[in-house]
Amino acid sequence: LIVTINGSETNEELNKLLIKPSEILASGGTVAFPTETVYGLGASALSEEAVNSIYMAKGRPSDNPLIVHIANVESLNLLVSEVKPYAKLLMAALWPGPITFIFSKKPEISSKVCGGLDTIAVRMPAHKVALELIRMSKKPIAAPSANLSGKPSPTSGRAVIDDMSGRVDCIIVGENSEVGLESTVLDVTGDIPMILRPGKVTRERIVELVGACEMDVAISGDKIDDSGVAKSPGMKYKHYAPEADMEVFVGSSSDIVRSLYEKTRNILDDPKTKVGIMTFLEEAMVIDNMLRGHDCLNGRYEWIDVGSSKEQTDYAGKLFENLRTFDALGCTHILARGVDEIGLGVAIMNRLKKASDGKVTRI
Ligand code: TXA
Ligand code: MG
Repeated sequence: LIVTINGSETNEELNKLLIKPSEILASGGTVAFPTETVYGLGASALSEEAVNSIYMAKGRPSDNPLIVHIANVESLNLLVSEVKPYAKLLMAALWPGPITFIFSKKPEISSKVCGGLDTIAVRMPAHKVALELIRMSKKPIAAPSANLSGKPSPTSGRAVIDDMSGRVDCIIVGENSEVGLESTVLDVTGDIPMILRPGKVTRERIVELVGACEMDVAISGDKIDDSGVAKSPGMKYKHYAPEADMEVFVGSSSDIVRSLYEKTRNILDDPKTKVGIMTFLEEAMVIDNMLRGHDCLNGRYEWIDVGSSKEQTDYAGKLFENLRTFDALGCTHILARGVDEIGLGVAIMNRLKKASDGKVTRI
């Protein structure tokens, strides 16, 4: 079943469209749905069988824990055994929104959802369709990103259909995800909050709200292991990876233009290759001009811009979609521009490092 929601529906129309999907969730089925970060693949968090079908659909190892999505704060009582005072502050300020909190879980919650851990990840998404769907299903909804395991997270209905057609009971096709990167994952079980996965809600923002915030050491280098507490199982899998071989370059605009141009020409010396270039619009246009001077390179490269260098939100929003597009265009190599690791740039670089398996060159 595919349900299309274009965002212009009245509340009443939206409710009507969500009746069938919410019934599917309530009876233990799987529904892919849009959120503000990326699309999720949902099923009741209270049914082991339902949770199993998520792992099956994604082809994901079941030792990788899922995020449980709720539509109101009261639902937390069902799931978690303790909420620290500073976590209450953060929840009040940041939910609904692109941040997931890790709490100690209630013993009666199946460890299937939590990959065998005694903690549980919970998020209240800031998305009308997602919130309404969860509310109508009357269940907390376990939902990882709705991609096949190892593929970039889906930020459009098209990407979900590509990955999940025939594997789930229902797909809700909505607008493209606004944020484009998965939520910040913040462990709030300790005395000081700790970021396990960077996202739109930055460390700076959390410090502003509660005075302190640490960053997991596993996400600080170029080779990333952010598989959370399920560290060793997660390390076996390459995340967010496009089919193409990817490299990331960080430097000034003029250095980026020169390096990406030279690197592209190098790669294209091999006649079996095709290069995908992902940079800011200003840079992409200059590189394209330089490459167009060589007729023999016609059709051997593609560029997709990530908006203007003045606006990192565009890069975040288009990143995953661009990686999928390069694959669809048959690129064997992707050359991507990296960014400074401040603010949202931390999350952008985290995803670029993972997609490239740590192949970052600083010029
Ligand atoms: O934005 C998002 O968070 C999206 C949308 C659908 O909400 N969901 C998402 O889920 O990205 P997923 O399953 O692809 O990523 C969940 C992340 C993983 O890195 C996982 O290791 C971590 O959260 N995680 C989940 N439960 C955890 C726990 N109890 N302790 C530590 N990390 C946990
Ligand atoms: Mg994921």
